[in-house]
Amino acid sequence: MGRVQTVFACQSCGATAPKWMGRCPECGDWNSYVEEARTRAAPASTPGLASQSVPIAEIASLDGPRRATGMPGFDRVLGGGLVAGSVVLLGGEPGIGKSTLLFQAGRGLAADGTGDVLYASAEESAAQVRLRAERLGIRDGRLLVLPETDVSRIVAEAEAEARKRSLALVVVDSIQAVADPTLASSPGTVSQVRAAAGELTRYAKASGVPVLLVGHVTKDGNLAGPKSLEHLVDAVISIEGDRGGARRLLRATKNRFGPVDEIALYEMTGEGLAELPDASAVLLAERRAGLPGSAVTAAREGTRSVLVEIQALVGGVSAGSPRRVAIGLDGGRLALLMAVLEGAGLPLSSREVFVSCTGGLEVSEPAADLAVVAALASSARSQALPERGVFFGEIGLLGEVRRVPAAASRLKEAAALGFQTVYLPSGNAGDASAFPDLACRPVDRVSSFLSEIFRKS
Ligand code: TYD
Ligand code: MG
Repeated sequence: MGRVQTVFACQSCGATAPKWMGRCPECGDWNSYVEEARTRAAPASTPGLASQSVPIAEIASLDGPRRATGMPGFDRVLGGGLVAGSVVLLGGEPGIGKSTLLFQAGRGLAADGTGDVLYASAEESAAQVRLRAERLGIRDGRLLVLPETDVSRIVAEAEAEARKRSLALVVVDSIQAVADPTLASSPGTVSQVRAAAGELTRYAKASGVPVLLVGHVTKDGNLAGPKSLEHLVDAVISIEGDRGGARRLLRATKNRFGPVDEIALYEMTGEGLAELPDASAVLLAERRAGLPGSAVTAAREGTRSVLVEIQALVGGVSAGSPRRVAIGLDGGRLALLMAVLEGAGLPLSSREVFVSCTGGLEVSEPAADLAVVAALASSARSQALPERGVFFGEIGLLGEVRRVPAAASRLKEAAALGFQTVYLPSGNAGDASAFPDLACRPVDRVSSFLSEIFRKS
């Protein structure tokens, strides 16, 4: 063997270069290059899968029965449970509740009799894991704990256990803490994280046992190092929330086996994570109705509709270039909507404008446009919107209000939460007849919409 060859790898995105660089040309991060031993190239084919062409109809379907984790929200975010042989990365800040979530999911899987769960704990000792299990009231013998950081030993143990019993899931907590000792680079570096994930992926595909990887996320929201794992795994699920608060939001950011826009809300309690089935009620709980700048919209999150509050604050006239901030909403759409409002006789171009979607949600669909416009106009005029009103509709460049998909489901959610008036595109008005308790206000154009909602003044 020749001398150890080294390479410089960006710890944020995994890009490599022959020499050190201050700024990564790929992702733009500063000081992210670390010298690492050159890793073996990943094998071109996955062992266990024949590298021969096969007629498409004869390929075994991956979409076999999914395994339920006993946590309906987590299953929904996964696209209906865990798929055999899939690799899922669960990302989140340290202390947010990743281990807790996977412990509870492991318990659910083990309890439904599918098989045992191997929990490889690379960060905590067996005693620490036991402590958490006690807190969660887990005393199930089918949850096997393996304190281990060597990825080959984890795979070997999983294979050995699979000969004795049926395995339903392997959890690796965390991917940054496991390593392949034959590689020269230290644990947590991009090459170690990639090599370990590669080995676990090969194990999952060859054995059919799903593998769940925990990945710590840095404060700027990147999966440290594992950003470069996203293409390797089948699904990336993130758990977010304010560590001081108890609410946690679970969402899929990538999913080869299901939609990516499902969410689930949880609350961290003394006995672990408890699902909050009524997302709308939670998201609106802190709303103070009757304040200018607040509008409720019915947004689609995956297969469900949730009611969320859009807030706007239109500040004073600014001499320089005024600030435009959109949190949880698209900045480009905000600029478009402000231009439309300008055309409808509400000049905002010289004023500072802030809009946000409350509750930590991100609403990316144009159906929220009407609520954004309503909130902006309400703040600019210091006049509150109708208290029990909901707004949805896409707004076009010419100020026209366009129909949106799934209006019936949005209306149903609004009716369920006791809202009384719904402002919606004329094109969707037909759906409202099924909801006699809701007063339906079809709107065609932004200008007539504004004069209607502020008519009384
Ligand atoms: P943990 O799952 O260890 O987070 P992560 O794996 O993402 O680092 O959870 C950490 C926090 O959750 C910890 O501060 C204690 C709290 N917690 C509860 O409030 N209730 C519980 O039942 C458990 C197990 C943890
Ligand atoms: Mg943990």
